[in-house]
Amino acid sequence: MTAPKRIGILTSGGDCAGLNAVLRAAVYAATGRGWEVYGIEDGTAGLLDRPMRYRVLTRQMFDTTIMRLGGTILGTTNKGNPFKLPQADGSFKDGSDDIIAGIRELKLDAVIGIGGDGSMEILRTLAKRGGFNLICIPKTMDNDVGKTEISVGFETAAYVATEALDRLQPTAASHDRVMVLEVMGRDAGHVALNAGIAGGADVILLPEIPYDIEKVAAKIRACVTENRGFGLVIVSEAVKTRGGDALKVEHTGGEKRYGGIGHYISAEISQLTGFETRVTVLGHVLRGAPPIHTDRLVAAAFGVHAVELVAQGKFDRMVAWSNRQVIDVPIDEAIASYQVVDLNGALVKTARALGICLGD
Ligand code: F6P
Repeated sequence: MTAPKRIGILTSGGDCAGLNAVLRAAVYAATGRGWEVYGIEDGTAGLLDRPMRYRVLTRQMFDTTIMRLGGTILGTTNKGNPFKLPQADGSFKDGSDDIIAGIRELKLDAVIGIGGDGSMEILRTLAKRGGFNLICIPKTMDNDVGKTEISVGFETAAYVATEALDRLQPTAASHDRVMVLEVMGRDAGHVALNAGIAGGADVILLPEIPYDIEKVAAKIRACVTENRGFGLVIVSEAVKTRGGDALKVEHTGGEKRYGGIGHYISAEISQLTGFETRVTVLGHVLRGAPPIHTDRLVAAAFGVHAVELVAQGKFDRMVAWSNRQVIDVPIDEAIASYQVVDLNGALVKTARALGICLGD
């Protein structure tokens, strides 16, 4: 038996499906040991503000309703860097001392940070500077965190994109059209590749594989004229134009995000083949969905293991999924190894064997 502890938990970076299931599991595991859990609001932002923004999390708050919901009840942010916070006069402020002071003031024995590679790097730097105990749980629909086969949120995103292809196929077939589906995934094409295979795409375009648009057009011609009257294309948002440009959209506050490659590819296909095309951009629909069962399972196992690590006093670790087991690895190693699609891996081989055009 370890002495009762007080731990902090926060969700950081873009939301995704399964975050509430992680919170629930961690709260159950921790309170089962007689510990207190402080849920920090909006990532590290809740520790920057005075008064600080946090809630004591109890089992009563986490009946199974919340586990089923997308999003995060704690809130999150994927904007701003706490080491360089923009001020009204145009200058920048380092907020790290305030965050560290907040953790000390709350007397947290450890912090469990649920985040992607960017958030983990920020938390790791804060922990080194402030000397607090940190455990990380990987979450990202992009599935680009290294040293883990799965991050929370990916399975649901791939499922939603697969379902979108299922829904596009009948309308594509009815109208003899080429449907182009653009999916998020930042600089890794895992969502497009997984959903493309599962959802029967004819063409899958990934940021990891430069494409030749003539080959894409040839595949579409073959689909439309030789076999059947329609084509399904899935394209990952970070795929570049023929000229090598990444297409981005500027949002409020000047934040730039990927967007537009679906329409670009659609226009190219239409111009080269003369076939009618339509575009669907899934965007945040991939993130806000209720978690599917695999995300709930991984989320639950990760939350429980993170608390076990705190109990063992084993810190600076990220929980990870490997061969249907939960393991843990040094956070630094995970941050250092960004995970893109393995071009020699089973899924790329499978796609090629199924005759799916990967653009090369
Ligand atoms: O990293 C997760 C992600 O959903 C990416 O796939 C996407 O490029 C980005 O976040 C979108 O960010 P925002 O929510 O700020 O539009």
